[in-house]
Amino acid sequence: MLEARGLVKAYATPRGKPPLRVLDGVDLCVAGGRLAVVLGASGSGKSTLLNVVGLLEDADAGEVTLGGERVSALGRSARSRARGRYVGFVFQSFLLLPSLTALDNVLLAARYAGRAGADARRRARDLLAQFGVLERQAHYPPQLSGGEQQRVAFCRAVLNDPPVLLADEPTGNLDDANGRVILDALRARARAGAAVVVVSHRADAAGGADAVYRMRDGRLESERAVHQGGTR
Ligand SMILES: Nc1ncnc2c1ncn2[C@@H]1O[C@H](COP(=O)(O)OP(=O)(O)O)[C@@H](O)[C@H]1O
Ligand SMILES: [Mg+2]
Repeated sequence: MLEARGLVKAYATPRGKPPLRVLDGVDLCVAGGRLAVVLGASGSGKSTLLNVVGLLEDADAGEVTLGGERVSALGRSARSRARGRYVGFVFQSFLLLPSLTALDNVLLAARYAGRAGADARRRARDLLAQFGVLERQAHYPPQLSGGEQQRVAFCRAVLNDPPVLLADEPTGNLDDANGRVILDALRARARAGAAVVVVSHRADAAGGADAVYRMRDGRLESERAVHQGGTR
């Protein structure tokens, strides 16, 4: 499971203006088996939040706990090992390596974790088959459609069966049908026990969520509180 407490992150701004506090005391707790969706306008800090809880970026203050381990307190290399152990990332722009085939992109996840043997290869092929892209395994990303790239990227994210799965605008570059495939797959991972966090500017990403939050002014509000405040 994932637990973040008191996250603060500020970015410097040009010419002596006060720093931009993108995260201004954010708490987020997602148990295994649950799907949390964070909505918010563009620029509200959704990607920053995901990058901080996924250990891709440091916070200025606050704590991140993954699977019961206080990972934010670890040094750089231990933290990156923890990321490999706990976190699967689904990026909006897929971030497949153009010089590797679809299969080798998926296997990257196993390589980082130091277990790219025959088992990983079999599991990668099973996943590609499950998502209807096995026949594309030897293709390179530029030869794949956006929907195919996202499915390959999803296979990479879940290859190691990470207990925490983070998805940044997973439907942002997809048509509705392909977007639904990815959202359904994220829900299925939650049902299988992962703590899943989806961030999106699209309200329709919140369908089937166990909890819905909204990023606003550096804070994370539960969507219910937003409604009670009558702001929408
Ligand atoms: N590395 C960075 N340096 C400076 N400002 C940044 C950096 N990353 C993001 N920002 C700013 O922080 C704010 C939040 O960005 P982001 O987390 O990407 O928002 P979202 O994902 O909700 O669109 C934006 O104003 C963005 O310009
Ligand atoms: Mg973003």
